[in-house]
Amino acid sequence: MELFLVLKEDEIMDKTKSPIAVFDSGVGGISVLREMVKIMPHEDFLYYGDSKNAPYGTKTKEQVKDLTVAHVQEFLNMGCKAVAIACNTATSAAVASLRQMYPDLPLVGIEPALKPAVQYKKEAKVLVMATPMTIREGKFQHLLDKYGQDATVYQLPCPGLMEFVESGHYKSKEVYDFLDQLLYDYKDNQIDAAVLGCTHYPFVRKQIQKVLGDQVKIFDGAEGTARELKRRIEAAGLANTDTSYEGHVTFHNSAPTPEKMRLCQALLAYEE
Ligand code: DGL
Repeated sequence: MELFLVLKEDEIMDKTKSPIAVFDSGVGGISVLREMVKIMPHEDFLYYGDSKNAPYGTKTKEQVKDLTVAHVQEFLNMGCKAVAIACNTATSAAVASLRQMYPDLPLVGIEPALKPAVQYKKEAKVLVMATPMTIREGKFQHLLDKYGQDATVYQLPCPGLMEFVESGHYKSKEVYDFLDQLLYDYKDNQIDAAVLGCTHYPFVRKQIQKVLGDQVKIFDGAEGTARELKRRIEAAGLANTDTSYEGHVTFHNSAPTPEKMRLCQALLAYEE
């Protein structure tokens, strides 16, 4: 006897119930994910950290682009309805190509929050902390041309900083000492605002604030990116409208040790 499985069209194609993919070179993008979860509580999220290949910030643009594109292709094969590149470095390397490859996909990237930081105060002195690649790439340099005019912007590549978060040592005395040295020239009232241009850095925001002083206002792009993702998903008609549904987060990682998976959960719950 033949068995026919008859699915109604809306059961086959109800993309609104599909997960949203959130991608980073490691665990840093969880600083963006937690903002997304707050404003989209009825969505499922699949968070993928490429910790095996991290850090991205000291790789070449081509390497980061190839890794990012390959992961996005996997997310689409898995049926994700939208993709967020929650990594400044991967965004600067790959987002333009991804937009060309998938013009209909709700896709957002993240970039250093330079605009609000320079607008925060007249003739502001702004410190931008990011990976060497983010600072070097055209995407940030365009941002600087666009918004950097009336401000003094100090560009500080921070190789070695993301590793403290990636290894779970984001509360250690070592990270404070590292920051104390790294930010030495900007201590004592030198700057008005600091931009955390890497998604790992919000997890050491407290220590950055302590080194720079309370007068410094700190900006990151997480909230803006989350809002933009929500807007794009709604515009595409892909938001889950079942408000009785409580969304889930699933963590995936290319180096899925038990410590790494525990770190992901701890960072999602981390309150600053
Ligand atoms: N989290 C990444 C970013 O936002 C970069 C960290 C890395 O170097 O892999 O730029």
